[in-house]
Amino acid sequence: YPLKKPPHMSWSFAGPFGHWDLGQLQRGLKIYKEVCSACHSMNLVSFRNLTALGYSDAQVRALAAEYQVTDPAPNAQGEMFQRPGIPADRLPAPFPNPEAAAAALGGAHPPDLSLIAKARAVERGFPYFVFDIFTQYAEGGPDYIHGLLTGYGQTPPEHTTIAPGTHYNPYFISGPALAMAQPLTDGQVTFDDGAPQTVDQYARDVAAFLMWAAEPHLVARKATGFVVMIFLIGFAVMLYLVKKRIWAATP
Ligand code: HEM
Repeated sequence: YPLKKPPHMSWSFAGPFGHWDLGQLQRGLKIYKEVCSACHSMNLVSFRNLTALGYSDAQVRALAAEYQVTDPAPNAQGEMFQRPGIPADRLPAPFPNPEAAAAALGGAHPPDLSLIAKARAVERGFPYFVFDIFTQYAEGGPDYIHGLLTGYGQTPPEHTTIAPGTHYNPYFISGPALAMAQPLTDGQVTFDDGAPQTVDQYARDVAAFLMWAAEPHLVARKATGFVVMIFLIGFAVMLYLVKKRIWAATP
């Protein structure tokens, strides 16, 4: 099957001076909550982590309390029990286990989305990976997610067999079609910051949110890396000058 390269989008977190667009990450979380979390889990993200998106402690507490979660430890009688969520809880999964998800979704297995933005960041091969080290390329995963979410509704090329119950998408990495139907439609999620309520914008925002979830320290790591490079260059110059001085021929 012909695998199409997802279009390269412009991301606020790209490049050595990248930064998170907190408004975008908050919109992405809203899309995840209202759409994706009906099928997908994000088992590695806790409510308390969401303070990094610009929410206050009180807002995070209120958000967690919207959910009923099963306490990880049994009560004094040895029974598992439900209680309102607290910031230390992970984002609740829609199904208790993959078997339950498959039973509810006709045999499909929606993957956990915590690390999907890193998991689908395909190695770009020679010569790109040489430059990617220096430009801190990290956008392959979000480009893929954006491409996948906007890539539905196209006509499959001739001689492509689409298995029943699957949906053609030229960007899907492991076949011509996948079990997820188009999850987003225009106007589905309401934004209160004036951002366009289109599939394209939703796809960008949720992809940026999933990038943050997969690598929350991306921006801090780049900033530190930049300072380290400046230091190493300065240090190398100094070492060279010191070496010249020590080994200078005495008259
Ligand atoms: C797979 C994202 C909503 C069901 C996937 C994949 C991603 C993704 C990135 C992995 C594709 C791959 O393996 O390369 C999203 C996002 C959503 C969303 C961002 C919200 C905007 C949904 C919903 C459902 C769903 C609402 C269920 C009705 C599935 C299933 C798969 C899948 C069953 C596995 C597909 C397969 O391997 O054939 N999704 N999803 N997703 N998703 Fe979603």
